Formats: sequence, C-alpha cells, structure tokens
Amino acid sequence: MSDEPRMGFEEDIKPLFRETDRSRMEWAFDLWDYDAVKENASGILERLEEGDMPCDGAWPPDQIDMFRAWIDGGYVP
Ligand code: HEM
Repeated sequence: MSDEPRMGFEEDIKPLFRETDRSRMEWAFDLWDYDAVKENASGILERLEEGDMPCDGAWPPDQIDMFRAWIDGGYVP
C-alpha cells in the first residue's frame, strides 16, 4: 500500500480544468466528463507534458503529476 492519496476525477482532476478549457476543447471532448477524459487520457497527458495545452500556458508540474497519478491509480471516478 502506498501512502499517496489516490486521485479521484470529481474531487481532484475535474477542478483542474477551467471553464475556458472545457469550452475551447468541446469540439474534441468534454473535459468535465469522466468517460471522455478517461478515453482521451493518454492524448491529454501527452499535450500537458509537451506544455502546449492549455493553449494559453502550460500547467505547473505538480498538476501534471496529479493527472498522471490519476491514470496510474486506475481512473478513480
Ligand atoms: C487543460 C486544458 C486542455 C487540455 C487537456 C487540452 C488537450 C488537448 C488535446 C488532447 C488536443 C488534441 C485533440 C485532438 O486532436 O483530438 C487538443 C487540441 C487543441 N486544443 Fe486543447 N486542451 C486544453 C485547453 C485548450 C485551450 C484553453 C485552448 C485555447 C484555445 C485549446 C485549443 C486547442 C486547439 C486549437 C487544438 C487543435 C490544434 C492542436 O491540436 O494543437 N485547448 N487539446
């Protein structure tokens, strides 16, 4: 068992996506929807790591770590 708290979508991940992110990305997927983010998680992580999403400034590394931990933790809702 790890001491790391498990990341959950509703509590930890969804609040990282601003209303702007959601509306600018709605043509591709809904960043406030669990299933959509789970389905696109590897593509999202890639863009976050490259630092080219969000379009107006890269996330701080600790937020990217949170997103990665959510994937590694098995996509807790
Ligand atoms: C945390 C927030 C965001 C995430 C995780 C994200 C993620 C992504 C991903 C995964 C793609 C590729 C989608 C595909 O090709 O199917 C993409 C494309 C795109 N995103 Fe975002 N996005 C975010 C915020 C934004 C914002 C704020 C804008 C502002 C305009 C934006 C503009 C675009 C545009 C124009 C594209 C298509 C061009 C390209 O692929 O670079 N995104 N985004």
